[in-house]
Amino acid sequence: MIDPAQLQVRTLGEGRITSPLDALIPAHGSTQHYVDEGDRVLFDDTQAMLAARTGGELPSFEPGGARRRIFFDPSKIRVGIVTCGGLCPGLNDVIRGLVLTLNNQYGVSRIIGFRNGYQGLVPRHGRSIVELTPESVEYVNEHGGTILGTSRGNQDPDEIVDCLEQLGVNILFVIGGDGSMRGALRISEVVAARERRIAVVGVPKTIDNDIPYIGQSFGFQTAFAKAAESIRAAHVEAAAQPGGIGLVQLMGRHSGFIASYAALANNDADYVLIPEVPFSLDGFLPDLRHRVATRGHALVVVAEGAGQEHLEEAPVRLDASGNRKLGDFGLFLRERILADFAQAGQEVNLKYIDPSYAIRSVPANPYDSVYCLRLAQAAVHAAMAGRTEMVVGQWRGRFVHVPIPLAVSARNQVDPDGDLWLSVLEATGQPANFAAAIRRLA
Ligand code: F6P
Repeated sequence: MIDPAQLQVRTLGEGRITSPLDALIPAHGSTQHYVDEGDRVLFDDTQAMLAARTGGELPSFEPGGARRRIFFDPSKIRVGIVTCGGLCPGLNDVIRGLVLTLNNQYGVSRIIGFRNGYQGLVPRHGRSIVELTPESVEYVNEHGGTILGTSRGNQDPDEIVDCLEQLGVNILFVIGGDGSMRGALRISEVVAARERRIAVVGVPKTIDNDIPYIGQSFGFQTAFAKAAESIRAAHVEAAAQPGGIGLVQLMGRHSGFIASYAALANNDADYVLIPEVPFSLDGFLPDLRHRVATRGHALVVVAEGAGQEHLEEAPVRLDASGNRKLGDFGLFLRERILADFAQAGQEVNLKYIDPSYAIRSVPANPYDSVYCLRLAQAAVHAAMAGRTEMVVGQWRGRFVHVPIPLAVSARNQVDPDGDLWLSVLEATGQPANFAAAIRRLA
């Protein structure tokens, strides 16, 4: 159970400067969606959740949004932006949103971008810095990728803080996933140990939607919309062939959100296999054969992290971010399905599609673009007000500040007992438990 203390955001000091946005703020007070900066956004939102709290302070988030008083003097500061880790739709929208909000709303004109993730902050890698202006970021949101480039892996936080000090950077915005946020945490710890006043504020990024306490991550919606195109294609192919099977593998290392949402978007999938819900092949394969025999074709959607337990144990290999490199379950499953149908003497026509990086290298869709801009605005408001060691997110529809230690404390996953997975089971009709299904088929 969450402790209210875990939701407290660090601040560099009191805001003593009147915000240029001061005049705009009182008007928001009367709207239902505005949360005053002195108010808090409740962590729980059902009676049962509240009833389970036995007295004491209710856990709550600090709301996002512009403050009346800010900590940094906009005319005197320098701001750095870095994008880290794998690509995600909307990175350029966030960069542009940060630059425009800093420049147009606060009058901050000295903004730089570091190239290729944290490498850009370490002299050894020899990456140049880039000046960011409203003009230089024009139209960048129309493109996928990141204009700053990216890289995986963290760098020595002491070297990074040396770099920030040398360049006179007062605010560092980190756009990255959980590994990069761990890096941001270490940077802010070094800043604190040196008693510097440099704000480190994150905008969490992951197409996998696996960062907790932020509602949904930007780019996720674009990614699953793109993934849904592959599912549609696989369905058309499968439906056209005798014994047709469409098998689609989608990104999602430890979390099956992309597979679940993309499958629900089409509502044609017969099976969704995700890492959070183990399944037995001895249960799945006969069920699939039965499905093809009775309905003519079948559509299977697999998250790349699913079924790893069925692969031959290989030596553990990690990528630069410390993520375990996965075996290719989609290809393995394809072979197993073909072998199983052959053994049973049942006709099969399997079409395998793995859109891979194609779902994350695209520009953000309009929903994500709006979300990216609003996250960027919230991040700028937080940093200008002196908040640090935090990320911005949405909690129950409201923008909030989430301390980085909390944001990296767990992984957001599909709850096998939750309503999303229940929707998947309802939509697919797949058994919740393949072992029990074998008994039903027999
Ligand atoms: O974490 C996001 C993600 O897109 C995963 O879905 C995928 O497994 C991984 O990144 C691949 O990253 P890369 O090959 O760029 O290291």
